[in-house]
Amino acid sequence: MITENLNLFLANLNVFYRKLQNYHWNIKGEDFFNTHAKLEELYDKINKQIDEIAEHILIIDGEPLGTIKDYLEITQIKEANNEKIFSREIFENILKDYSILIENATKIKEDADNEKKYATSALMDEYLLDYGKKTWMIRQCLIK
Ligand SMILES: [Fe+2]
Repeated sequence: MITENLNLFLANLNVFYRKLQNYHWNIKGEDFFNTHAKLEELYDKINKQIDEIAEHILIIDGEPLGTIKDYLEITQIKEANNEKIFSREIFENILKDYSILIENATKIKEDADNEKKYATSALMDEYLLDYGKKTWMIRQCLIK
Protein backbone atom coordinates (compact mmCIF):
# COMPACT_ATOMS: atom_id res chain seq x y z
CA MET A 1 0.00 0.00 0.00
CA ILE A 2 2.80 2.43 0.90
CA THR A 3 4.74 1.32 -2.18
CA GLU A 4 1.63 1.75 -4.31
CA ASN A 5 1.09 5.27 -3.01
CA LEU A 6 4.78 6.10 -3.46
CA ASN A 7 4.45 4.99 -7.09
CA LEU A 8 1.40 7.20 -7.53
CA PHE A 9 3.44 10.05 -6.04
CA LEU A 10 6.31 9.19 -8.42
CA ALA A 11 3.94 9.26 -11.41
CA ASN A 12 2.55 12.65 -10.35
CA LEU A 13 6.06 14.04 -9.89
CA ASN A 14 7.09 12.90 -13.36
CA VAL A 15 4.09 14.48 -15.06
CA PHE A 16 4.52 17.62 -12.95
CA TYR A 17 8.17 17.87 -14.03
CA ARG A 18 7.15 17.81 -17.70
CA LYS A 19 4.38 20.32 -17.02
CA LEU A 20 6.69 22.80 -15.26
CA GLN A 21 9.22 22.66 -18.08
CA ASN A 22 6.43 23.02 -20.64
CA TYR A 23 5.38 26.22 -18.82
CA HIS A 24 9.04 27.35 -18.68
CA TRP A 25 9.02 27.15 -22.48
CA ASN A 26 5.55 28.58 -23.07
CA ILE A 27 5.45 31.44 -20.58
CA LYS A 28 4.45 34.77 -22.19
CA GLY A 29 3.85 38.26 -20.89
CA GLU A 30 5.62 41.11 -19.15
CA ASP A 31 6.94 38.99 -16.24
CA PHE A 32 8.49 36.44 -18.59
CA PHE A 33 12.00 36.67 -17.14
CA ASN A 34 10.96 36.17 -13.50
CA THR A 35 8.55 33.31 -14.14
CA HIS A 36 10.80 31.60 -16.69
CA ALA A 37 13.62 31.48 -14.11
CA LYS A 38 11.35 30.48 -11.20
CA LEU A 39 9.89 27.56 -13.17
CA GLU A 40 13.39 26.23 -13.83
CA GLU A 41 14.11 26.34 -10.09
CA LEU A 42 10.84 24.49 -9.40
CA TYR A 43 11.37 21.72 -11.94
CA ASP A 44 14.99 21.19 -10.90
CA LYS A 45 13.73 20.50 -7.38
CA ILE A 46 11.00 18.14 -8.64
CA ASN A 47 13.61 16.29 -10.70
CA LYS A 48 15.67 15.63 -7.58
CA GLN A 49 12.54 14.44 -5.79
CA ILE A 50 11.74 12.01 -8.62
CA ASP A 51 15.08 10.27 -8.09
CA GLU A 52 14.76 10.35 -4.32
CA ILE A 53 11.26 8.82 -4.31
CA ALA A 54 12.19 6.10 -6.85
CA GLU A 55 15.23 5.17 -4.76
CA HIS A 56 13.20 5.24 -1.56
CA ILE A 57 10.80 2.72 -3.13
CA LEU A 58 13.83 0.48 -3.80
CA ILE A 59 15.13 0.98 -0.26
CA ILE A 60 11.86 -0.38 1.15
CA ASP A 61 11.98 -3.34 -1.27
CA GLY A 62 9.47 -2.00 -3.75
CA GLU A 63 9.70 -1.56 -7.49
CA PRO A 64 9.50 1.98 -8.86
CA LEU A 65 7.53 2.56 -12.05
CA GLY A 66 9.98 3.56 -14.77
CA THR A 67 8.06 4.32 -17.95
CA ILE A 68 6.13 7.37 -19.09
CA LYS A 69 3.33 5.02 -20.11
CA ASP A 70 2.97 3.79 -16.52
CA TYR A 71 2.96 7.34 -15.19
CA LEU A 72 0.29 8.53 -17.61
CA GLU A 73 -1.96 5.61 -16.71
CA ILE A 74 -2.19 6.61 -13.05
CA THR A 75 -1.28 10.30 -12.82
CA GLN A 76 -3.59 12.64 -10.93
CA ILE A 77 -1.83 15.68 -12.42
CA LYS A 78 -3.09 16.77 -15.81
CA GLU A 79 -0.51 17.61 -18.47
CA ALA A 80 -0.35 21.17 -19.80
CA ASN A 81 -1.22 21.94 -23.41
CA ASN A 82 1.67 23.01 -25.58
CA GLU A 83 0.54 26.61 -25.93
CA LYS A 84 1.61 30.07 -24.77
CA ILE A 85 0.35 30.95 -21.31
CA PHE A 86 0.48 33.94 -18.91
CA SER A 87 2.16 33.48 -15.55
CA ARG A 88 -1.01 34.06 -13.52
CA GLU A 89 -2.68 31.02 -15.09
CA ILE A 90 0.50 29.00 -14.62
CA PHE A 91 0.59 29.78 -10.90
CA GLU A 92 -3.13 29.06 -10.46
CA ASN A 93 -2.64 25.68 -12.13
CA ILE A 94 0.48 24.65 -10.26
CA LEU A 95 -1.04 25.68 -6.93
CA LYS A 96 -3.63 22.92 -7.51
CA ASP A 97 -0.89 20.49 -8.54
CA TYR A 98 1.10 21.17 -5.37
CA SER A 99 -2.04 20.50 -3.33
CA ILE A 100 -2.28 17.06 -4.98
CA LEU A 101 1.36 16.39 -4.02
CA ILE A 102 0.60 17.49 -0.45
CA GLU A 103 -2.30 15.00 -0.35
CA ASN A 104 0.01 12.25 -1.65
CA ALA A 105 2.73 12.95 0.92
CA THR A 106 0.21 13.23 3.76
CA LYS A 107 -1.39 9.87 2.93
CA ILE A 108 2.03 8.19 2.63
CA LYS A 109 3.09 9.64 5.97
CA GLU A 110 -0.09 8.48 7.72
CA ASP A 111 0.26 4.94 6.37
CA ALA A 112 3.99 4.88 7.16
CA ASP A 113 3.35 5.93 10.77
CA ASN A 114 0.72 3.21 11.14
CA GLU A 115 3.18 0.60 9.89
CA LYS A 116 6.08 2.01 11.93
CA LYS A 117 8.01 2.85 8.76
CA TYR A 118 9.52 5.93 10.32
CA ALA A 119 12.14 6.64 7.65
CA THR A 120 9.38 6.96 5.05
CA SER A 121 7.38 9.12 7.45
CA ALA A 122 10.37 11.39 8.14
CA LEU A 123 11.09 11.71 4.42
CA MET A 124 7.53 12.89 3.83
CA ASP A 125 8.03 15.65 6.42
CA GLU A 126 10.65 17.21 4.13
CA TYR A 127 8.23 17.15 1.21
CA LEU A 128 5.38 18.62 3.22
CA LEU A 129 7.62 21.45 4.42
CA ASP A 130 8.84 22.12 0.87
CA TYR A 131 5.36 22.09 -0.69
CA GLY A 132 3.90 24.11 2.18
CA LYS A 133 6.46 26.87 1.65
CA LYS A 134 6.00 26.82 -2.12
CA THR A 135 2.20 27.03 -1.93
CA TRP A 136 2.42 29.93 0.53
CA MET A 137 4.67 31.83 -1.90
CA ILE A 138 2.49 31.05 -4.91
CA ARG A 139 -0.63 32.16 -3.04
CA GLN A 140 1.07 35.50 -2.29
CA CYS A 141 1.91 36.10 -5.91
CA LEU A 142 -1.72 35.49 -6.91
CA ILE A 143 -3.01 38.30 -4.66
CA LYS A 144 -4.17 41.25 -6.78
FE1 LIG B 1 15.58 26.75 -20.05
